[in-house]
Amino acid sequence: MSEQGEIRRQYWDEIYSSRPAEEMGWHQDVPEISLSLIRSTGLSRDASIIDIGAGESSLARHLMDSGVSQLTILDVSEKAIQKSRELFKEGASKIRWITTDILEFEPDQEYELWHDRACFHFLTSEGETSKYVEITRRALVPGAYLIIGTFSLEGPMKCSGLPVKRYDHESLQKIFFGFKLESYVYLDHKTPSGNSQNYIFCLFKAEP
Ligand SMILES: C[S@@+](CC[C@H](N)C(=O)[O-])C[C@H]1O[C@@H](n2cnc3c(N)ncnc32)[C@H](O)[C@@H]1O
Repeated sequence: MSEQGEIRRQYWDEIYSSRPAEEMGWHQDVPEISLSLIRSTGLSRDASIIDIGAGESSLARHLMDSGVSQLTILDVSEKAIQKSRELFKEGASKIRWITTDILEFEPDQEYELWHDRACFHFLTSEGETSKYVEITRRALVPGAYLIIGTFSLEGPMKCSGLPVKRYDHESLQKIFFGFKLESYVYLDHKTPSGNSQNYIFCLFKAEP
């Protein structure tokens, strides 16, 4: 990993070493909106799916329980990947695990669905966001789906102590040009400590 990637890895490893998943501000028992957007694509259970900055999210568990057979989990934190793998026990071998900074990700397979909840918003410079978009283009098949969930313009300015870039559906559409905005939703996430954080989720389709 690059020096910047290494700094990110250490930062997130410390966070994941400090407390259990249920106490993280972004924790969800059931990632309802992600699951409903994924279902709305109508993709089959053997579609290739990647979850970016997945951490210890329960999304993987819900997808595997619903029969998804080609799931890749990517995160910069080795600790998060290790904790998540342990939860799956022997089922972990059915998932592809990738530990890397998303900006250094070199896809060696194509995906039909890319999901990112609360990872993209940590990329605050134009260079970083355009690099991310370039990687999605390389990783996705024509007609693939892309789900991006970030803090909205009403949401907090920081997440886990780091500054974030906030969006609405129009600014996300401008960044992900070449992708067609199929649907979007704003929603409040209640953190375990009772605070409310407004998110925007966009479902895009890669133009063939
Ligand atoms: C706020 S958490 C969200 C976790 C998960 N997506 C969820 O919704 O529960 C952000 C996650 O993104 C990961 N992350 C942050 N920056 C990253 C980067 N540049 N590349 C890959 N993962 C990153 C962190 O390790 C962390 O697991």
